Amino acid sequence: MFGVDIGGTGIKGAPVDLDRGDLSEERCKVPTPHPATPEGVIEGVAEVVAHFGYRGPLGVTFPGVVVDGVTRTAANVDHGWIGVDARKLLSERLGGPVVVLNDADAAGVAEMTFGAGRGRGGTVILLTLGTGIGSALFVDGKLVPNTELGHLELHGHDAERRASVKAREDEELSWEHWAHRLKKYLAHVEMLFSPDLFVIGGGVSRKPDKFLPHIHGISAEIVPAELQNNAGIVGAAMAAAKL
Ligand code: BGC
Repeated sequence: MFGVDIGGTGIKGAPVDLDRGDLSEERCKVPTPHPATPEGVIEGVAEVVAHFGYRGPLGVTFPGVVVDGVTRTAANVDHGWIGVDARKLLSERLGGPVVVLNDADAAGVAEMTFGAGRGRGGTVILLTLGTGIGSALFVDGKLVPNTELGHLELHGHDAERRASVKAREDEELSWEHWAHRLKKYLAHVEMLFSPDLFVIGGGVSRKPDKFLPHIHGISAEIVPAELQNNAGIVGAAMAAAKL
């Protein structure tokens, strides 16, 4: 099976071994075109797939709301994606069945099956911290798709503008300062959903010691994601396996 993860900076893909929940070959990454228009990004996906000579069912993640293959929002890609039948365009370009799903949902499904959320019931929220903030909400292991908790309002701002990894980099915040913002964000999400577990994904999941020790006062357990940057690819391939 094969998964592709469309991100704000790169389009990444690889064949996936679904027994192990891991990539079966080293992934291929091409830069996300700017502007990240549907045409340019679809060419990027085709390039990644062609690199492996893969033909067959394909799972593709998108950094926005996706309902029935149609991309409905585009916070960190070109607004030309709004209302586009991405599933149709991709399957025409690639000549096979395609499933398109939200990137955080894909990462969440992979973490719940192979990673930090394995076997966990109750309410679990995975947050991917990167260019934006993505969320995946699980109730007793079942996904509630397309939650957009990165766009909650925090102190009058879109939360992802304050607490994403991009915000930390753009504003050159110390880890401690950024962790303080993340804590406020987690407290807000906790107030609304009372989850049992937060799984923190995205590149920062590789460096939990930099920020988790600074986060206090949250009742839910907080753990770093285990599949790290490959979670989206694995989750996309899992969705493709159901086609
Ligand atoms: C989008 C989400 C996406 C997240 C991470 C947000 O800006 O609205 O749909 O999951 O970024 O890419």
